[in-house]
Amino acid sequence: MQRRLTVVEGMALAQDIAQNWQQIWNFQARKGDVLLDTYPKSGTTWMQEIVDLIMNDGDEQICRRAPVYERIPFIELLHLMKPGMEEVNAMPSPRILKSHLPVHLVPPSFWRHDCKVIYVARNARDTVTSYYHFDQMLQFHPDPNPWENYLERFMKGEVGWGSWYDHVKGFWEMKEKHQILYIFFEDLKKTPLQQIQKVAHFLGKNLPEETLSQIARLSTFDHMKNNPMANNSDFPKEILNQSKSGFMRKGKVGDWKTMFTVQQNEIFEDDYRRQMEDSSLTFHNPK
Ligand code: A3P
Repeated sequence: MQRRLTVVEGMALAQDIAQNWQQIWNFQARKGDVLLDTYPKSGTTWMQEIVDLIMNDGDEQICRRAPVYERIPFIELLHLMKPGMEEVNAMPSPRILKSHLPVHLVPPSFWRHDCKVIYVARNARDTVTSYYHFDQMLQFHPDPNPWENYLERFMKGEVGWGSWYDHVKGFWEMKEKHQILYIFFEDLKKTPLQQIQKVAHFLGKNLPEETLSQIARLSTFDHMKNNPMANNSDFPKEILNQSKSGFMRKGKVGDWKTMFTVQQNEIFEDDYRRQMEDSSLTFHNPK
């Protein structure tokens, strides 16, 4: 793997993914497919587990049938790992698929078939903090050190999958035009049951209260961390090197305070205001 980014359609992307861009863009979604899209480190895996539990009526055993990255394939990585394109084409409908692509680069077949999209957004400071730790492990992204450079690159959109600001605003603006459910990581932490209910309703699943509670219990940070089928511990090592730390890191709101200096926070805040001023999207930015 090359630890290098290149620019595709104006977005920074790992070279190992970029070289396969045409296949990704031409991905053939089917009617009824559901796309789970996020900016990296926004709670994707958490939502993958929740959605799979919802689709399987909270059945824990069924949801342990395979690692989460196999149950919900990642469309940008189909050429790098299993399940690949062939397996994904053979999956029965409705398929649930994962992507980190910004709204304008989602393969057009998803919109053509009016597929439902679940989008999870996480506040910028916690996202960059989580991403910095993750990029130590991710073998196709540049070494994120030192932190101060990484923070600057994040503000400029010079990290994998480009600008967080454009990503969260892009889906926010499109949510009235398409079937997009916009969920916040911070709400999932605070009111998991309500958020799970919202997702179930969006997916057309009418689940009893006790099933929803069971799903909330099975998708807590601690439960997922101890579940080898949900914690990504078996993710291919040539892509994700977890020898020093694991995928399930802290799962907290406000962990950015362990990384930002007072001065970095001020600079970030000024830049944040500038980049977000053209949008009605607001976050519960943890102070
Ligand atoms: P941290 O690095 O802050 O711990 P993604 O799946 O998009 O890569 O996001 C990963 C982030 O979500 C990590 O954040 C991870 O710990 C957190 N996460 C995963 N499952 C979670 C859960 N059940 N509850 C809370 N946070 C979770």
